[in-house]
Amino acid sequence: MLGALGLLRSKTAFVYGFKTERDHIMNFTKADTFAQSIVLEKSMGPNPLKLCEELLYGSQIPAGSVMLDLGSGTGLTSALMAREYGFTVYAADLWSEPGDNMRFFESLGLTNHQIVPLKADANALPFATEFFDAVVSVDSYNYFGRDPQYLGSCLLPLVKHGGTLLFAIAGMVRDCHDNLPACLTASWTPEQLEYMHDMSWWRNNLSQTAGVEIVDMHEMSCTAEAWHDWICCDNEYAQGDRKAVEAGALEYLNTIAVELRRS
Ligand SMILES: C[S@@+](CC[C@H](N)C(=O)[O-])C[C@H]1O[C@@H](n2cnc3c(N)ncnc32)[C@H](O)[C@@H]1O
Repeated sequence: MLGALGLLRSKTAFVYGFKTERDHIMNFTKADTFAQSIVLEKSMGPNPLKLCEELLYGSQIPAGSVMLDLGSGTGLTSALMAREYGFTVYAADLWSEPGDNMRFFESLGLTNHQIVPLKADANALPFATEFFDAVVSVDSYNYFGRDPQYLGSCLLPLVKHGGTLLFAIAGMVRDCHDNLPACLTASWTPEQLEYMHDMSWWRNNLSQTAGVEIVDMHEMSCTAEAWHDWICCDNEYAQGDRKAVEAGALEYLNTIAVELRRS
């Protein structure tokens, strides 16, 4: 398994080159500090460590900042941000168990001074207004943020004025829900694909909220590599998604990076 992952990685490196929109070659020096066995065990979708490192690349968020990792899942990205960026991280997630995540963080040498796991619904987050310096959400925002009211009513008030919100959203190159290609329906139902939209759909969604500036939106460069890492995972969800990827789904799918600033 690990050998196969390494092979895939070098193959995709050759094919895709990992160039970011900002013309930087991503070497994933931070994501790659995690053992592959951990990535294979804990991933819930396209490699979240690589998505998170690319998302944070070039951002000016200083060490010591108080971050919300929203929809943090098993806590891979939270651990990355606490250990490699020196942030204080609140790892908020609905489906995972905070105790399991805390044991994972402790196994990496992280303490409750650096990282706070909690079970929380993104629609009712238990934090003070203007609490966070920044928010990161990797492969989660499309679960709760598709209602254009969500940002302004539930999330933005918790961020300091001038604070940054960074999302990596699993998306589509172009919305094609009226005529879904067979490679997508090989793994997903039309209802599941309703969670995925293209950049102009998300721009329309996010621009409806007052008090926030859309600083940047772009397609992320590591999408193909992140998906290939995911389908190497030995769990039923990854293996289910493998059918679509092998049938050519990555021609239709992207990851949309969003950078917002609260006014
Ligand atoms: C595909 S997983 C991604 C997890 C993690 N960010 C990662 O990339 O590994 C989606 C996550 O969204 C979370 N989620 C879905 N709906 C949520 C909600 N209403 N509030 C908080 N988290 C939610 C789930 O608990 C799940 O962990």
